[in-house]
Parts: sequence; C-alpha cells; structure tokens
Amino acid sequence: MTTLPTHVRLVEVGPRDGLQNEKAIVPTPVKIELIDRLSDTGLQTIEATSFVSPKWVPQMADATDVYTAIRKAPGVRYPVLVPNLQGYERARAAGVGEIAVFTAASEAFNRKNINASIDESIERFMPVLEHAKTDGVAVRGYVSTVLGCPYQGEVPLADVVRVAKRLRDLGCYEISLGDTIGIGTPAKARAMLAAVAAAVPMTALAVHFHDTRGQALANILACLELGVGVVDAAVSGVGGCPYARGATGNVASEDVVYMLHGMGIATGIDLDKLIDTGRWLSAQLQRANSSKVGLAA
Ligand code: HMG
Ligand code: MG
Repeated sequence: MTTLPTHVRLVEVGPRDGLQNEKAIVPTPVKIELIDRLSDTGLQTIEATSFVSPKWVPQMADATDVYTAIRKAPGVRYPVLVPNLQGYERARAAGVGEIAVFTAASEAFNRKNINASIDESIERFMPVLEHAKTDGVAVRGYVSTVLGCPYQGEVPLADVVRVAKRLRDLGCYEISLGDTIGIGTPAKARAMLAAVAAAVPMTALAVHFHDTRGQALANILACLELGVGVVDAAVSGVGGCPYARGATGNVASEDVVYMLHGMGIATGIDLDKLIDTGRWLSAQLQRANSSKVGLAA
C-alpha cells in the first residue's frame, strides 16, 4: 500500500556536501553566488557550509565568510554542519540560527570521519545541543552509513535505529538517514526506513542518498512510498564525503524535482531555475554536470 506524500521538502546540500569534496578550493565568491542563486529557486532549506576543522576539510575553511555574505532570503533556512562546541561557537559568531550535527551507524566510519566512536561523538554533541536549546537554535541530526560502510561493510539495522533514536531523544527535530557511499538498493532502503520509523516518527525523518551506483532515485521512490516527506539532494549532483572511500556525488536536486513533479508531488521549486543553477555550477567547477535532467535539452 503506497502512501505517497503530496508535498516534499528538499534539503539542498550542494554548497556543503557538494563542495566539501571538490579537490580544488572553490573560490568563496562562487560559493556565495551558488547559495544566492539557490535562494531564488523556491528551495526552503539550503545547507550553506560547515564549521568543521579546516585541518580536516580545508574546502570549508571559509565558512564564516560564506555564511555572513549570503543573502538570507525570507522563508529560507540556512543550516550549517557543526561537529563540536568549537564549531558551534564559530557558527553562532557568524549569526547562524540552525545547525546540523552528524554521526554514523558504523564505528569504523565515524573514527575516520570525526576521529571518535559513536558514543564519543554524541558526548561531543551534548554541550552543543544544550547551548542550542538555550539559544533557540534548531538542530538537525545526520546518521551516516545507514545502508553500508566503506570500512566495516554491513551495518546492522539495529545500530541505525539506535543512533537515529538517540539523536531524536537528544532534541534533533529531524534525522537525515545517509547512504553515504550510495551502496543501497530499494528493498534495503525501504527496510531500513521502516525500521527507523518504528522508533522515530516518519515526520521527523529525511533521506540522504549518494548516487554512487545509480540507485538514488529508485531508493528515494521506495522511501517516498513509505511516507517520507523530506529528501536531501545536491544541485548538479556534486558531492561526496572526503572520509568515505569511494563516495561520489549526492543525488542531483534537478533529477529529484523532475521525478517528484512528474508524479504530481509539489516541491515549491522552480525546476528551470534549478537547472540553470546546476549548469552554472558545473561551468564554474569545470566538471561534467551529473544531473541527467540538467543535461537534457
Ligand atoms: P580532532 O583532530 O580529533 O579534534 O578532529 P581536535 O579537537 O584535536 O582538533 C584538531 C584541530 O582542529 C585543533 O587545532 C582544533 O582547534 C581544530 P590545533 O590545535 O591543531 O591548531 N578544530 C576546529 N577548528 C575549527 N572549527 C572546528 C574545530 N574543531 C577542532 N569546529 C573533528 C575532530 C570533529 C574536529 C574533525 O574530525 C572534523 O572536523 N571532522 C569533520 C569531517 C567532515 O566534515 N566530514 C564531512 C561531513 S560528514 C558527511 O559528509 C556525511 C553527510 O553528508 C551524511 C552522509 O552522506 O552520510 C552529513
Ligand atoms: Mg552526504
């Protein structure tokens, strides 16, 4: 029995997840223009940057400059990634009003990505979440490697559920479930989402697929049929995690919007403007556009 939503909110992660993995440092003005262009497409949420250690992710070293310069369009939220209290303080000093914390369902990946076990990473979030609560800052939570880990292989469903529920219990308003290395297939994605949704309300869940093996749209459709209403995507399919061996781009926002609109599901997004932005970004990065819709005439 399918329960397709009538409206889906896209979380555009291109400026953060998309650009964090680019080898050449993307000039700050390009990042700013990208976000400003995205702000004109009807997107409601644009993940702008991340306040992580520049030693770990040099591409995001200009987080303060990017965040302070972007136009904050009315009705658009601009969350940023924060790994610890130091990142939270930097983000707040830049005027950030919404953050995302991130951990994984796999111990091995977490150690590579943030140099901590799952429990240690959650310990690190505690003071961040306490400050956020006091400051009225909304917090989203990411769980990575929900369908497999590049270092550990299989990730037990029970671990995905446990970590997602923990983040929810700690006050994250939404939990984004990440197939970090794009390894999942629809039946597996569906089973994973169903298991998490038994512990965390579906209305508080989002899906985040990388398209490494071309499965992302099929996986999203499988999850939409279970009732998920929030989908992460990156314009022109940029992206990848520098600490996930083999991870490539996120599913392209244009392709997700094309599919949703074609199914009569509203997004509030102007697809033509999104396509233009994807083409513009591909030219700026001098890379092939990974959006199939962006390549179509
Ligand atoms: P560490 O080395 O264990 O931490 O890294 P540390 O506290 O020892 O700090 C090391 C140095 O970094 C110190 O500088 C700190 O001051 C500095 P030093 O004393 O050597 O001069 N530092 C910072 N500087 C600025 N801002 C900060 C900050 N924190 C420390 N916030 C740490 C631990 C978590 C900091 C590090 O591992 C890190 O930053 N990792 C981020 C990795 C990352 O960004 N990965 C990509 C995002 S996750 C992702 O893409 C997945 C997702 O898309 C979902 C999916 O697809 O599954 C979300
Ligand atoms: Mg990602």
